[in-house]
Amino acid sequence: MRSKPRILIVDDELIIRESLTDWLMESGYEAQAVEDGQKAVEQVKQAEWDLLLVDLKMQGMNGIEVMQRVKQINKDLPVVIITGYPTVDTAVQAMKEGAYDYIVKPFNPEEIDLVIRNVVAHQKLVKENVYLRQELKRRYQFRDIVGKSRKMQELLVLLKTVAKSNSTVLIQGESGTGKELIARAIHDTSPRHKGPFVAVSCAALPETLLESELFGHVKGAFTGAVSARKGKFELADTGTLFLDEVGDTSPKTQAGLLRVLEEREFTRIGGSEATKVDVRVISATNKDLEQLVSRGQFRDDLLYRLNVVTITVPPLRERPEDIPLLAEHFLTKYSIENKKDIESFAAEALDLLMRYEWPGNVRELENVVERAVVVAMTSVIAPAELPDIVTGESAPVKRAAPEAEGHELPLREVEKRHIMRVLHAVSWNVKEAATKLGIDRTTLYNRLKKHGIQRPKP
Ligand SMILES: Nc1ncnc2c1ncn2[C@@H]1O[C@H](COP(=O)(O)OP(=O)(O)OP(=O)(O)O)[C@@H](O)[C@H]1O
Ligand SMILES: [Mg+2]
Repeated sequence: MRSKPRILIVDDELIIRESLTDWLMESGYEAQAVEDGQKAVEQVKQAEWDLLLVDLKMQGMNGIEVMQRVKQINKDLPVVIITGYPTVDTAVQAMKEGAYDYIVKPFNPEEIDLVIRNVVAHQKLVKENVYLRQELKRRYQFRDIVGKSRKMQELLVLLKTVAKSNSTVLIQGESGTGKELIARAIHDTSPRHKGPFVAVSCAALPETLLESELFGHVKGAFTGAVSARKGKFELADTGTLFLDEVGDTSPKTQAGLLRVLEEREFTRIGGSEATKVDVRVISATNKDLEQLVSRGQFRDDLLYRLNVVTITVPPLRERPEDIPLLAEHFLTKYSIENKKDIESFAAEALDLLMRYEWPGNVRELENVVERAVVVAMTSVIAPAELPDIVTGESAPVKRAAPEAEGHELPLREVEKRHIMRVLHAVSWNVKEAATKLGIDRTTLYNRLKKHGIQRPKP
């Protein structure tokens, strides 16, 4: 590749052509723009290019057609498709037809820069002949974490840096966003990866049990303590301790945790000697710990110890461009697991996945894809194989279509939909749904009856 990569922009909007060309030239690239596919084809015949940036929706030849024509002339020329957000599924289609990547509008210059640098690196590797063509997924995957949105890419950069250090990390994010996955990735890529990764869920156990779970106990420390037992801190020595749902700990446990973090030692319950440990602590919470501190439910000195580095995982609805990638990722995973030969999603099905709000985040998406793979009748997942909640058959909680704006729902309907959405997100675990909704179980059952909501048949 030349020292200055040459980029051809194909877009029918003058303003995009001008601003992109200017910006690319300022960034040290050589850039030129044309307004339609015909001119693009001519340019590709006449001159050498390193990259084509092609708008998907254009008058005349659309982006995919332009790509196909150009590939007939030079099949190795990387083409990046620029697409509006509602047509991301088409862009994924374009990937399958050989596009190198796609960028979702509105984009900012850094995103383009990232993609271009990617292409340049890729071309270099192709030249050096060491590059086995990897698919899109590989490029946007770190360990098992998939994500191409800017937010996730930034998170991965932070994650890689953090992994090298020994600092205490707090991972914040809604339920199902991938907090545990991230904690494991940090451990697995850290200098401690040969040590153990020990996870404790602080919400699952009552206070006394949690303490003995964490710190261990000596024989006879309490009724039932028939023998001495090591706690998780000891088990995690030289490795990483993952404190899940740390916001759910009692004041007493918090004091114990603070002590370990400050002094790197702890005492077994009922014991008298302190034990030293070499443990890295990663904690996670779906609660707002600052808020718990202001309410006096969480110690600020402990928060200060835990959040040396904070990683905030964005909810899925804030990064819809990750949905197609994640959906494909789970499609492959569950096709293999279920020994089914499922290839892809119908464009319409992918579109529905893109529009849905995902209150249960990635975990919910994973469940939906798993179910779809199991019930799929053909090698392509059809809309009918998605749950009603996603297709909007039972309770449309999809992103409002533009024409739906201004159309207000009656309160009763909003309540019904909200309840259904929460139930769906927790896979119909009524207890969990009630907690999330802030009502007791009886009240929830009454509401189900009132709205005629029934558990969908599996
Ligand atoms: N970016 C991602 N790429 C691939 N898989 C993901 C991603 N994020 C989450 N997952 C998958 O989604 C599921 C839920 O993730 P995880 O258990 O890490 O979430 P969590 O934030 O710990 O949820 P909770 O708060 O409910 O405990 C897991 O199966 C995980 O592998
Ligand atoms: Mg978790």
